[in-house]
Amino acid sequence: MKILMLNQKSAMKYNDIAEYIENLKSLNNKFIIIPSSLYIKEFKDAGYTVGIQNIAKKDEKNQTGEITASQAVSTGVTHVIIGHSERRANQNETSDILFDKFEEAIKNDLTVIFCVGENLVDYKLKNTDKVIYEQLDGVFKNVDKSKLTNIYIAYEPCWAIGTGMVPTNFEISKVASLIKKYFENIDSNIKVLYGGSVNETNISNLNEVENIDGFLVGGASNDYKKVIEMVNIID
Ligand code: PGA
Repeated sequence: MKILMLNQKSAMKYNDIAEYIENLKSLNNKFIIIPSSLYIKEFKDAGYTVGIQNIAKKDEKNQTGEITASQAVSTGVTHVIIGHSERRANQNETSDILFDKFEEAIKNDLTVIFCVGENLVDYKLKNTDKVIYEQLDGVFKNVDKSKLTNIYIAYEPCWAIGTGMVPTNFEISKVASLIKKYFENIDSNIKVLYGGSVNETNISNLNEVENIDGFLVGGASNDYKKVIEMVNIID
């Protein structure tokens, strides 16, 4: 079965959490939930496997508004998203920053979901491979290779996120091969996810892409009925 990672971003309100948790409790071993950090405790207490959407780039006490990797781990968090395109764009997260975050995550034994993806202009110019390669190399060329375990690379084309547009299965498969090839001599166990407008209606078709290991779902992960449908389809 392919793995399902649910990136709830900043959409859910506190009053909706209890109902969501209750309705997905019996399926909570079928996915990793990555909620707003405000609700991590609620999901942990209900027995969910929980990720965090971001961590600080250094482990220091005086960083108002930040959550460090070690703090996340102390609450039972096991996974972290690094390099999401929304943070690359809105928080100006460069490869140098992402490298520091990656090092922090690995030091604290977090499983990393590292996102890559081209924008629409690069997609149209057929620059996808080049962009993906640069994004990977920006962080992983300097990483101690022995640390490269527990990593998922999520291919998320920026133009597919929240738009309803999805690459063809062939395009996804090509990028997945590229990513696996990049890590070939480093760690052949690297897992690849696809993300970008995955939902309960298209997941059955996307599930046919053989060389991806799962999905990173944004918008559709905020509706527990859609999550139940997606789990049932890929299970
Ligand atoms: P989306 O988001 O499923 O809403 O397109 C995916 C993501 O950004 O992780």
